[in-house]
Amino acid sequence: MEAAKNVIKNAKSEVSQFQAGHEVPIQHQQLPGLQSEIQGPKPTSTHVPGEDGGYAKYKAAGKLQGKKAIITGGDSGIGRAVAILFAMEGADSLIAYLPEEETDAQETQKRVEQHGGKCYLLSTDVRQKENCKHIVDVALEKMGGINIVVNNAATQTMIQKITDLTEDQWVDTFNTNIHPYFYLSKYAIPHLKAGDTIINNASVNAYIGRPDLLDYTSTKGAIISFTRGLSNQYVGQGIRVNAICPGPVWTPLIPATMTKEAQDQFTSPMGRPGQPSEIATCFVFLASSDSSMISGQSLHPNGGVVVNG
Ligand SMILES: NC(=O)c1ccc[n+]([C@@H]2O[C@H](COP(=O)([O-])OP(=O)(O)OC[C@H]3O[C@@H](n4cnc5c(N)ncnc54)[C@H](O)[C@@H]3O)[C@@H](O)[C@H]2O)c1
Repeated sequence: MEAAKNVIKNAKSEVSQFQAGHEVPIQHQQLPGLQSEIQGPKPTSTHVPGEDGGYAKYKAAGKLQGKKAIITGGDSGIGRAVAILFAMEGADSLIAYLPEEETDAQETQKRVEQHGGKCYLLSTDVRQKENCKHIVDVALEKMGGINIVVNNAATQTMIQKITDLTEDQWVDTFNTNIHPYFYLSKYAIPHLKAGDTIINNASVNAYIGRPDLLDYTSTKGAIISFTRGLSNQYVGQGIRVNAICPGPVWTPLIPATMTKEAQDQFTSPMGRPGQPSEIATCFVFLASSDSSMISGQSLHPNGGVVVNG
């Protein structure tokens, strides 16, 4: 009863904060950014646009009952919303994140538990392959199996010109954004079986070629090709591999990495950025048997940017 009351209280506070408007104060945080430090309307994890123009609580239908998921970057933003919607659909998860994000991770754990799920916490740097191996080992130990791998952790740093983009930044962005997708998939896939899925978070930037995020954009393009190739390796065994390519989404990554000007222009053809909950619904779809005929593809929750692919 107490748990149910908390869910209602949290849902109300999330929606009232969000309905304060899409206008958010320009703000800055240090990387990796904390959701708890966001000023103004908070990102919403559980509410999606409703028929009346407002936001309605996501309606679950037991689509992931008994499933076990690994979610990198699950402490905040899109990863948090995925962990919570997965829990609403009946899945447990292990979330991996950086040590600086422990408080955000604990909040995700609390929110997952309020929906009856289990959420195991593991602070670790996914840039090291040993740590990705460890994530798989801990997931197997704690959850007894793995059905869904969500590769989601990433970083970005805005640089206008290739001549100012340092070699170190280029390498670090690849070490963070794409190499761990390979490590985690490689170590987890021997434990997956027919019906299980890998979902890679990419970005609209892979398709539009965003110039001030050249290294980030390049890693996101690599993720699309990685998704296609890995799908072609495993689709015959019933393991599906897909990507999601969000447009602008209100998460801690934005105040932690975007200039004032970029935050000013942070919108989509729909006249607003997306909320993490609106991206997380795509993860539920690709993780569940609703998408049983889809593999090697990309979904584009980007607010109406028409892309090919
Ligand atoms: N926010 C957007 O506008 C947007 C748009 C398109 C794609 N995306 C993608 O969505 C994904 C999630 O980002 P988000 O916007 O929810 O921001 P976020 O800051 O909430 O999540 C990113 C997470 O990555 C994790 N991370 C970064 N470096 C790590 C490392 N070395 N080791 C372990 N974890 C690390 C952190 O836990 C961090 O929480 C990313 O792949 C991002 O590229 C975001």
